Amino acid sequence: MAKNLHAVIWTRITGTPQKMGDLVLGEQQIVFTYTDHYHQSELAGLSLLGDQQLWDEKSVHYPVSERVPLFPRLISLVPGKNPRNLQRKQYLNILRQEMGREPPQNIETEWKLMLLGGHGGVGHIDVFQDDLAADHWYQNAGKTRSGTPANKSQIWKMAKREVLDQEIEFDPSEVDLVLGPTPTVGGMISKILVAIDKEKLEQDRELVLFRPETKGAWDVILKIEPPEYRGLLDLEALCLKLHDDAGFKNVPTFNRYDDGALKFLAVERFDRSNKKPVPMESLFSIIASGDHNFRETGDILLEELGEIFDQLSTVVELAPETKRETYKRIIMALLTGNGDLHLENLSLIGNLNGCELSPIYDPAPMRAWPRHNILSAIPFDPTNHKTHSEYFLYLGSQFSLSDRQTKNIIADLLEATEGYTEAIMELDNVPLTQREQLTDIAERERGGMRRVIQ
Ligand SMILES: Nc1ncnc2c1ncn2[C@@H]1O[C@H](COP(=O)(O)OP(=O)(O)O)[C@@H](O)[C@H]1O
Ligand SMILES: [Mg+2]
Repeated sequence: MAKNLHAVIWTRITGTPQKMGDLVLGEQQIVFTYTDHYHQSELAGLSLLGDQQLWDEKSVHYPVSERVPLFPRLISLVPGKNPRNLQRKQYLNILRQEMGREPPQNIETEWKLMLLGGHGGVGHIDVFQDDLAADHWYQNAGKTRSGTPANKSQIWKMAKREVLDQEIEFDPSEVDLVLGPTPTVGGMISKILVAIDKEKLEQDRELVLFRPETKGAWDVILKIEPPEYRGLLDLEALCLKLHDDAGFKNVPTFNRYDDGALKFLAVERFDRSNKKPVPMESLFSIIASGDHNFRETGDILLEELGEIFDQLSTVVELAPETKRETYKRIIMALLTGNGDLHLENLSLIGNLNGCELSPIYDPAPMRAWPRHNILSAIPFDPTNHKTHSEYFLYLGSQFSLSDRQTKNIIADLLEATEGYTEAIMELDNVPLTQREQLTDIAERERGGMRRVIQ
């Protein structure tokens, strides 16, 4: 990289846009410098551990590497490299047009992609090329406005082409006119951040789309099912409902909707409150910000998570039930066949002066598909335990739970998932092989946990 790359970060956390500071990426490190004004404020900072209240100086530093080339908090603002990532395709199209050639595969291009889609995304951080670009965005696209519904046809064409692999022509610039570049959002499944008319969807089964932040419309993450995971969104919806029935707090409202071959899951955005952004950060980002040797989910063990929350509590005001809630989520994932509860699927919401686990998201039971059939995306050390079920019982102690509390949690969640396998078998959209594989797994895990609490 020949020279430093520059950007600015703004936020609308108070409802009014304001600058947080300047960002510079060099060869070895990335530096964020707060403005004087923001440095003196108690508003949420760049990230939990990058909060200005923890840094005497105005600059926060992070040593970059190939694996974590930016502040960990900024990574979810760069569209992922999954071939079906709609934002990456859309922004690469824009860059291709601007440059008149194929954008090279390097950090400069990744930076440009972040500048194109890194505002209006999940959480309270908006990244722009410069203050002028920020101003322009807040005056136009990023403004809460009353809106007219977007013409869906171009968007549907894009989804059919990019997600369903149908040979359909569409004009990316028209999608741009309708929705603007929709903000980047993390994860593997194709999705867009939009607003929809909730009543029309619930009552008339009609999906009317608006740009995000439209007044009176419902801000959602709209996930689009890829053909290689047929039935995924039905399984995800089932597991959201199961968490709700099991008494998990704040399960977001969701709606499954089909339009011909296109299958959608709309999940209410919980990183917005009265149209104002709420800070949200994944455990991956929090841990990587605090420990510069940590580079990927596999760098910690499940049994270390409790201790990580304890350490975090020495600097941030963390809700007291966080460890217990995390343990419950881990057990629920085990019982439902979700081996994909990784550190991007767990987030804290709030700031230094008060934060807690975010509502549940992405509880899809991925073990239904053979290549995702692993017990836990976060590794663990089962040595000294006769079975992995015994390990998960022991794990409660690592989250400061007594033997009795742990057993009660497991018993409650076993009860809450009593009808799970029958419910799976009723999902006709899910291929039979997947339903059978998942019910086998769920029965086995449930049996294992039932035995260890007896
Ligand atoms: N309801 C929601 N409100 C706000 N942010 C969300 C919500 N659901 C997911 N997210 C954010 O979007 C990211 C991607 O969503 P996720 O459901 O995990 O997709 P995927 O199945 O592709 O991994 C998550 O990592 C999280 O940061
Ligand atoms: Mg996810």
